[in-house]
Amino acid sequence: MFKFFTKNRPKERKQELKKIPTHVAIIMDGNGRWAKKRNMPRIKGHYEGMQTVKKITKYASKLGIKYLTLYAFSTENWARPKEEVSYLMELPEKMFNSFMPELMENNVKVEVIGVVEKLPQSTKKAVEDAIEKTKNNTGLRLIFALNYGSKDEIISAVKKIALDIKDEKYSVSDITEKTISSNLYTANTPNPDLLIRTSGEQRISNFLLWQIAYSEFLFTEVAWPDFTEDEFYNSLLEYQNRDRRFGGLNEN
Ligand code: FPP
Repeated sequence: MFKFFTKNRPKERKQELKKIPTHVAIIMDGNGRWAKKRNMPRIKGHYEGMQTVKKITKYASKLGIKYLTLYAFSTENWARPKEEVSYLMELPEKMFNSFMPELMENNVKVEVIGVVEKLPQSTKKAVEDAIEKTKNNTGLRLIFALNYGSKDEIISAVKKIALDIKDEKYSVSDITEKTISSNLYTANTPNPDLLIRTSGEQRISNFLLWQIAYSEFLFTEVAWPDFTEDEFYNSLLEYQNRDRRFGGLNEN
């Protein structure tokens, strides 16, 4: 049973956290609008978004969540203005430079899903260094989706399976759900139990399409830079009140 208090938490907390999801995935949306509302450049919103990443990572680790997947840059985000893309590409280095001691202290293991090879050299190096430095940590697995697109991921899985069949490792009739899952970037990760999207939009935006077949969805109006530990706690409370039937019946 978990009961945590932070200074921002309302005093009259009605419920305790009794059921912690194993895997939480987050579409961190609203950085740009957050900044615009304050007459600031969009990149300031991304900078504040990075601070939220640090805060929520520490909190997720403290709560005992095992996997946290964060949608940091999609295959479609390359279409943004050059300056914004450049800034987003600098963020992993900025973040890991300042956050590494706390990641180590909290025993957090950094991982990445997406096409890392196509990232600028300095971004790729920052990410690979973080993966290497944290590789022996055994706590929260913090998975950044970077240059990630679910359709790309599925195409890459189909190609790998086609090659395996061509090499006669197995035949078409052997293909099962497990064959597909084990050829996705997320092969070693359980499916998300809870998917949160901040900032009011209610869409999936090419994120983990296969993996969220039975995830619980939670949409909040709060923009990512304003997302607090308290908001996260409330999302987990809502999750624990959901009745997950996975297409079956709940006999209770
Ligand atoms: C969506 O907000 C957010 C992004 C495309 C970038 C997410 C990146 C971070 C939160 C920074 C941390 C990342 C790393 C790798 C350290 P938006 O710009 O689409 O917001 P808008 O919909 O209001 O325009």
